Amino acid sequence: MSQFNGAGGQPAILVEGLTKSFGEVRALRGIDLSVPSGTVLGLLGPNGAGKTTAVRILTTLLRPDGGRAVVEGHDVVREAAAVRRSIGLAGQSAAIQEELTGRENLEIIGRLYHLSRPETRSRATELLAQFGLADAADRTAKTYSGGMQRRLDLAASLVGRPRVLFLDEPTTGLDPRGRLGMWDIIRSLVAGGTTLLLTTQYLDEADELADEIVVIDHGLVIAAGTSEELKNRIGGDVIEFTVPNWGRVADAVAAIKPIGEGEPHGRSRDRRGQRGRRIPRLRCADRGGARAGCREHREPRAGATPAVAR
Ligand SMILES: Nc1ncnc2c1ncn2[C@@H]1O[C@H](COP(=O)(O)OP(=O)(O)OP(=O)(O)O)[C@@H](O)[C@H]1O
Ligand SMILES: [Mg+2]
Repeated sequence: MSQFNGAGGQPAILVEGLTKSFGEVRALRGIDLSVPSGTVLGLLGPNGAGKTTAVRILTTLLRPDGGRAVVEGHDVVREAAAVRRSIGLAGQSAAIQEELTGRENLEIIGRLYHLSRPETRSRATELLAQFGLADAADRTAKTYSGGMQRRLDLAASLVGRPRVLFLDEPTTGLDPRGRLGMWDIIRSLVAGGTTLLLTTQYLDEADELADEIVVIDHGLVIAAGTSEELKNRIGGDVIEFTVPNWGRVADAVAAIKPIGEGEPHGRSRDRRGQRGRRIPRLRCADRGGARAGCREHREPRAGATPAVAR
């Protein structure tokens, strides 16, 4: 993993050998992370990889079984209160009170942070404007769209001006415009110096926002580096296409072999063809560009390993 050491100081988030099991399920099997101050780490992984478990431990909501995690110099177990003072969290599902208005949601949090009444009021007004919620400020949050609720939730995580912010899948469920809007908000936070750990299932999101990406799966770090480093490691483009006839698979393999760098791999999909047949699929890594006859041509995505059938 390439380590960013920022201005040479201690990383804002440091994780070493973190483990956590839920009964038989080993959610984290020893992960290491290092996030320099003022940078963005994208924690990327599929469903069940362990992303939320890691975020919950780092935000003191869950105790690890082993290893250690330090946020802003404070151990998340022994100095949980100090950690809480320096962090903000927008969890995977919005934690707002639906019966309260947007403004009330933010003001309650301001009071919990012991801000004075005038401070609370002005912070809420400022955040509602920043997140495009000024017009909806005095409506109950249950009347908000999913995207508005997400924005309110993120605004709530910022009331205490955290130095380190954890966002667990901040754009899941948002439409493309909402997603771009959220990216803009996140970029402006980062420009203001906030350290950010963001989980996502999308490589394009990590690519857009993160200085470094750590990919986890089944509770283990399986890759880490900058977006550029990871893309280079994954390889070039991927060609995936369907062969309509099982009997021609060997011919198809022979035909695409010269295009790719590795051996093409076939797999069958559960999906049935129009006449009820199983559809064989072939994949190969392509560095030479798409060729005629390929049904599908796409760039590598998180978790997609070219030339390996999954
Ligand atoms: N409270 C719990 N009790 C039992 N198992 C749990 C609990 N929390 C998480 N797990 C299990 O731990 C594993 C990791 O879950 P986690 O929520 O961290 O994944 P994730 O990467 O956030 O996935 P997603 O992208 O779906 O949010 C999963 O197998 C999950 O079922
Ligand atoms: Mg999760």
